[in-house]
Amino acid sequence: PKDLAGERVLVTAGPTREELDPVRYLSNHSSGKMGYAIARAARRRGARVTLVTGPVCLAEPFGVETISVVSAAEMREAVVSRFAAASIVIKAAAVADFRPEARAGSKIKKSAGETVLRLARTGDILAEIGRLKNGQFIAGFAAETDDLGGNAVKKLKEKNLDMIVANDVTREGAGFAVDTNIVTMIFSDGRIEDMPLMDKETLADTILDRIAAMRRQSPNLASG
Ligand code: CTP
Repeated sequence: PKDLAGERVLVTAGPTREELDPVRYLSNHSSGKMGYAIARAARRRGARVTLVTGPVCLAEPFGVETISVVSAAEMREAVVSRFAAASIVIKAAAVADFRPEARAGSKIKKSAGETVLRLARTGDILAEIGRLKNGQFIAGFAAETDDLGGNAVKKLKEKNLDMIVANDVTREGAGFAVDTNIVTMIFSDGRIEDMPLMDKETLADTILDRIAAMRRQSPNLASG
């Protein structure tokens, strides 16, 4: 069903890369598969979809406006500048929390002994749009290795989200770079739903089922 017709969905996917010098960077194992599956499914269900993606090895989804970024700062700019026009935001990207304090202009040469890398914090994009929220439905993701429920509920509240999709990345079949995931969906009204092992395509539609149902209950000015 075209149950997302009229919605403008903004999805983020993939990792970010924080450059150290012209040849090296800090990043993570995100493949982008979850976010791309959500973008494709949302488009199939009638939404106008914008995908902001970090560097991944996936084909651009058909019919989806795709914006490629590299660093957390670039992703922030791409998301914040499009936030007002969105009615639903789903942040599946694994954004780096730290970047090298300085990017060397030329390749860092090795020296004898150990070296220390100074890192600075990147801005939390999800928290920022949570503060800017004006009727949008915001779904975040949480990748955890300990106390899945506790940490995810904390993120849901602190970042002013409507929903958080939490996954324990230590479980086999869950998390980064696999085609399946095992998640717990937590909603701002306190509902918690534990999901079985699912392929990311099915999970994308399940997440959108929940969002579409909540949008039907409380549509607002941001849609249309
Ligand atoms: N996120 C973001 N900007 C950041 C870091 C994270 O928008 N700089 C978003 C991610 O896209 C995800 C959610 O925040 O939807 C949670 O990311 P996660 O890495 O699980 O948590 P953090 O908030 O970064 O907390 P921590 O690393 O301490 O677990």
